[in-house]
Amino acid sequence: MRILTLGDVVGPAGLVAVSTELRRIKAAEKADLVIVNAENAYIGNGLDVRSAEALFDAGADVLTGGNHSLRIHDSFSYFDENDFVLRPLNYPKDAPGKGYTLFQMSNGKRVLVMSLVGQVFMNPADSPFGAAEALLKELKGQYDVAVADFHGEATSEKGAFFHHFDGRINVMFGTHTHVQTADEGLLPKGSGFITDLGMCGVIDSILGVKPSSVISDYTTKVHNRFEKAEGDVALCGAVFTVDNGTGYVTEVKRIRYVHEA
Ligand SMILES: [Fe+2]
Repeated sequence: MRILTLGDVVGPAGLVAVSTELRRIKAAEKADLVIVNAENAYIGNGLDVRSAEALFDAGADVLTGGNHSLRIHDSFSYFDENDFVLRPLNYPKDAPGKGYTLFQMSNGKRVLVMSLVGQVFMNPADSPFGAAEALLKELKGQYDVAVADFHGEATSEKGAFFHHFDGRINVMFGTHTHVQTADEGLLPKGSGFITDLGMCGVIDSILGVKPSSVISDYTTKVHNRFEKAEGDVALCGAVFTVDNGTGYVTEVKRIRYVHEA
């Protein structure tokens, strides 16, 4: 089984690029399942229904979340009703939506996908370690392969999570920083990981934002409204190959495609 994962879709340019390119990438990578982090797909952060539907139409199977997931109030009922749109699992139990899904593959395998948010340099949330632990216990026997999107700022926190759940969560990837890490690899007990997938966003930008609207924050402490950048887009992510028999990850391949504007 090959699982294609794409990092944070940033704004209109990122959404257009993924909508245009995903089917081609999915075919090129021979992917059986596509997971996309969509917490920033809306024009000003968050995930709206229209953007989510565009990603599903393009070939995404599951959309994971993060600290911006619940910015758009109009989409809360969509988060509640759509089984494949996730917000962080370690949010309060009364938060709209859900933090995991069970995806039934055509070959009969059941894939558990969970979305988590970190605690280091992030807004307060429950422990992602405790939430994942409890979920694995609750769903024991109901899935064949487990996947986690750890949406976090600190590489150390993600690394600790990956090692702690080695052999129990097969596929683990980080999101949120918008910068792809070059550390993809296999862990001793059979899991595969990459600390951050990077973003699907404009290359000539600061994390997807127009540089001229960000720089004064640092040079003069004057804050401007962030404008989304325009231009060629890099679609960053990774493809995980999972052995159907053992559930071990046998390869993690970092990918970066370019969509010309
Ligand atoms: Fe984020």
